[in-house]
Amino acid sequence: MASGDSFYVTTPIFYVNDVPHIGHAYAEVAADVLARWHRQRGTDTWFLTGTDEHGQKIMRSAAANGVTPKEWADKLVEESWKPLLDTLNLSNDDFIRTTEERHEVRVQKFLSKLDDAGFIYEDEFEALYCVGCEEFKPESEIVPGEGANEGQLVCAIHSKPMELLSERNYFFRLSDFQQPLLDYYEANPDFIQPASARNEVVSFVKSGLHDLSISRTSFDWGIKVPWDDAHVVYVWFDALLNYITAIGYGDDDGEFERRWPAQHVVGKDILRFHAVIWPAMLMAAQIAPPKRVFATGWLLVGGEKMSKSKLTGIPPQQITDEFGADAFRYYFMRAIHFGQDGSFSWEDLSARYHAELANGFGNLASRVLAMVRKYFDAELPGGIERHQDDERILELARTAIANSDAAIDRFAIDQAIAEVWKLVDGLNLYITEQQPWVLAKQEADRGRLAAVLDTAVRGLGALAVLLHPVIPVATEKLWAAIGAEGELAQQRIADALEWRSTGRVGELDALFPRVESAETTDA
Ligand code: MSP
Repeated sequence: MASGDSFYVTTPIFYVNDVPHIGHAYAEVAADVLARWHRQRGTDTWFLTGTDEHGQKIMRSAAANGVTPKEWADKLVEESWKPLLDTLNLSNDDFIRTTEERHEVRVQKFLSKLDDAGFIYEDEFEALYCVGCEEFKPESEIVPGEGANEGQLVCAIHSKPMELLSERNYFFRLSDFQQPLLDYYEANPDFIQPASARNEVVSFVKSGLHDLSISRTSFDWGIKVPWDDAHVVYVWFDALLNYITAIGYGDDDGEFERRWPAQHVVGKDILRFHAVIWPAMLMAAQIAPPKRVFATGWLLVGGEKMSKSKLTGIPPQQITDEFGADAFRYYFMRAIHFGQDGSFSWEDLSARYHAELANGFGNLASRVLAMVRKYFDAELPGGIERHQDDERILELARTAIANSDAAIDRFAIDQAIAEVWKLVDGLNLYITEQQPWVLAKQEADRGRLAAVLDTAVRGLGALAVLLHPVIPVATEKLWAAIGAEGELAQQRIADALEWRSTGRVGELDALFPRVESAETTDA
């Protein structure tokens, strides 16, 4: 998909029953990198994240902690979820909470619209519910329990007993949308990504859709159904709508039209909600479906999906405290093929930090700038003449720009970074081959020395621009040290090589100092 007029990217909104772990942080960072990259393309960008605060899961956590659901949500949002934005250096434009009035009134407006259009009806209902998923589960996802749950039916994801619910509910006529959805998938082959996720959704929809229960009467922690306040809106129906309520659905100030449709980054466990239910809801309301739903894999720890309930949850801050936010962002974006599962280990993080960030990138920058200071008193002469070898580096930079930009179009974040890293490696090799410290020994080689260091500094500037979306802190330091003009975040990806220089380089402390990690040394 080429860069359009606007780019609206979202993360899932997170349940506030518990604190964030690195699985949540992963989606946040991915969406942030995409948003920053698009801003640096000059695209009108909006990045939304937030919290999902209704439903039984939150209600029960609050009760277990002896407070009301709203008090619990406020506490978790203020103490854990909003601070995560700083921990990870996120550049979100908005943060929505589903308990905010702007959300609640628009959810009611949307529901009334669907009701008026005849897509809602009332019926008796009995089914097995998983509170962990906040979902009535299909038979295929219910399995016999093991250990303490032997003899009971449990959810295949949460391994917790299912609950039998029997109520009068309002239903959304999801089954009406089987064919329109299949037509939409076919007409928009890039709508669901990666391809494996798309195939799974297509065969699921082909196997037939049931109408969806969208209200509950057995508890009241939710948004009231506008025409019947004995019912609260089903938490997923409420939550999905955040993507349009946050940008002013139903208002006439043009903001909604400016932003919508969105591109959603979601975990593969919640793909069906986003690729089946959500577009059907939108079609029913005569709103365009999202542009793209991209399903990420799971972070695995010790081979298992990392989760709080299984006690494998790692708080993001544990990593950022030791390695910094840049390293966190770089590591997860680089090491995991976006769209597939990936294993986290402290050893791997530490190894990549030292080999790639500290040695590969950080040292390159410090060495080059130290030579400019030493051999040219921090100021490179103008009017240099480049050789073929120097031109090859500039060509490498142009290729890195084009290829990384194309990878971002596919949301292939890891590949985009790999493309940029070809320039890091190319520059390191160039310095090794050109041996500026040898050129510095002969007065006759002075012009050559200037050309080599100038070319290397130019390459470093391109790296700062291209890596800014991923490692914003280190690239700012580098940007200042190479003596570049203008704000780094304002630099265009396409012009990464054409940055303007003041001509004077400055000091640069180690961008990625060595870390003796307690986790890796104890292991
Ligand atoms: N509240 C719903 C989403 C509503 S969106 C309209 C929800 N919340 S969640 O907090 O449980 O999960 C949020 C996201 O975190 C999901 O995309 C989920 O896949 C992701 N992850 C949770 N554990 C994860 C890993 N171990 N690895 C990667 N992502 C993980 O679902």
